[in-house]
Amino acid sequence: MARTPLNRYLGLTFLLALCWYYGPSLMGRGASVSGFGSGSRHRYTSNDLDRSNWIKGVLANNSIETEVSFASRTLKYIPDATERLSMTEINQDLLPDGFADIHVGSGSPILPSGSTLKVHVNKIRRPDAVNALSLIFGVSTTFARFDGAKTTPIKEWARWLTDGKGNSNGAGLVLALFNSSDTEIDQAQERLTAAGISATVLASNKTLDMPGRYVDLVQLLWNDPSRAERKYFVLVDDDTFFPNMPNLLDTLHTHDPSKPYYIGTITERTDWIIRDHTPMAYGGGGIFLTAPVASTISSLPCLEKDSEGEYVLGGDQGDKLLYNCLHNYTEITLTYEPRLNQEDEFGDPSGLYESGRSLLSMHHYKSWHHIKPAKMHAVASACGGDCVLQRFQFNDNFIISNGWSVAQYPHGIDFDTALVEGTFELPNDNGLADVLHLYAYGALRKSLSKTGRKKGWHLLDAREEGSGRVTQVYTKNREDERWLREDEATYERDSVIVLTWIP
Ligand SMILES: *[C@@H]1O[C@H](CO)[C@@H](O)[C@H](O)[C@H]1NC(C)=O
Ligand SMILES: *[C@@H]1O[C@H](CO)[C@@H](O)[C@H](O)[C@H]1NC(C)=O
Ligand SMILES: *[C@@H]1O[C@H](CO)[C@@H](O)[C@H](O)[C@H]1NC(C)=O
Ligand SMILES: *[C@@H]1O[C@H](CO)[C@@H](O)[C@H](O)[C@H]1NC(C)=O
Repeated sequence: MARTPLNRYLGLTFLLALCWYYGPSLMGRGASVSGFGSGSRHRYTSNDLDRSNWIKGVLANNSIETEVSFASRTLKYIPDATERLSMTEINQDLLPDGFADIHVGSGSPILPSGSTLKVHVNKIRRPDAVNALSLIFGVSTTFARFDGAKTTPIKEWARWLTDGKGNSNGAGLVLALFNSSDTEIDQAQERLTAAGISATVLASNKTLDMPGRYVDLVQLLWNDPSRAERKYFVLVDDDTFFPNMPNLLDTLHTHDPSKPYYIGTITERTDWIIRDHTPMAYGGGGIFLTAPVASTISSLPCLEKDSEGEYVLGGDQGDKLLYNCLHNYTEITLTYEPRLNQEDEFGDPSGLYESGRSLLSMHHYKSWHHIKPAKMHAVASACGGDCVLQRFQFNDNFIISNGWSVAQYPHGIDFDTALVEGTFELPNDNGLADVLHLYAYGALRKSLSKTGRKKGWHLLDAREEGSGRVTQVYTKNREDERWLREDEATYERDSVIVLTWIP
């Protein structure tokens, strides 16, 4: 167009008209952009653009191919359910429009967030509503594990030790680092403080071995200057996670903190219970001591050694030494809390995370099996702690296990969803496979892996967007053999489901 004065005038008028029309969204939320899909032009905000770019970034960073099969849905949670059920049935389809084959490379159109569907959830209690002043946690580990790119627990700790926004939720943490220099201790302290965690980092007693350092944590917790404010003194491993702090606090407060309580869980492995013949709290699930117990242990000679240098009480593991000390010197016995989880199973943990159970603790997520609890837990900042791993079942045979997976059962949900699926690796060297987890999980239903009856999308990443909005990206790799019958060909595309939770 020639730059005649008239054209300039027209151009300016057009621009002004545009600003008048889109003004509010340009100033506040963003410009209108057209996306793919529906056919009709849809107005997208800069937030949509931002979310879409984030999703594409997540897919690219995780080697998902740029031609994918894609579906999305927005779930509006309404906190009017009277309880958190094992299964919440929604009399609607999750994905009424199915999947679309799309390109998600750079420059591709904005990804839609799908039409809105209402779901009913229990009272919402987000991390920023948690007051955990009554708790102080103790962890004994090495600087290498604390600092290692693959092992550092900071992101996970921030989910249950802060309000999710960089401030402490009141809980204390004593981190005892073994064989670490002063510089390393300062560095750890700085990182925890920067994450909003109210922590004290110190060097563990050099003369103690691993079980000794573990039991020694009790007196470190008991002697912490914040003692008067604390009610429960908690020993955890560096890979223990608490997915539902509001519920954990409720549960703990049913045990009078002025009375002696030693609260924990036992291993899910029936054979190990019999091997250990010790009704002790296994450390990975978290061990909770009320003040009278912490005080008592601090004054007992738990770490006494004999002339051979062995613990008089015996105990090659810290949790066992702690139990032996209580057992030998006091009348205190275990208060068993089955919703705490030691998670002593190997392989795919889906069976547990897709069981709809309300878990108070999780363990072994960086070793025996792999999950990313901080990402899983992001959705607590939308629909609250009870919503984590909550199940929603839809008419089109999809089940969401919130924060872990979206599973589709193409031949129908023709099994009892109350039973735990046997997805774990079950060691059968002693012929016990079928009864290994019996007391903890019940009899397992058969794994649907390689039957073609189940297809699973697993959480790849999740993002908080403020104001109770959280976006989750679930993916199914096209080569994942778990979802194929033996004679079934691999899929042509990686598949992506995006769920956006909104208030
Ligand atoms: C993708 O990886 C890069 C490099 O590690 C990182 O800076 C970026 O934040 C990642 N993007 C997303 C969306 O996670
Ligand atoms: C202590 O740390 C040093 C240096 O990091 C390492 O060489 C040594 O093996 C460690 N000792 C123990 C007992 O872990
Ligand atoms: C370290 O542990 C040993 C053995 O239990 C004990 O004698 C010593 O007092 C402890 N040192 C500190 C600083 O607590
Ligand atoms: C501790 O208790 C165990 C089991 O009751 C017993 O065998 C052991 O002799 C006791 N040890 C001490 C030092 O009292």
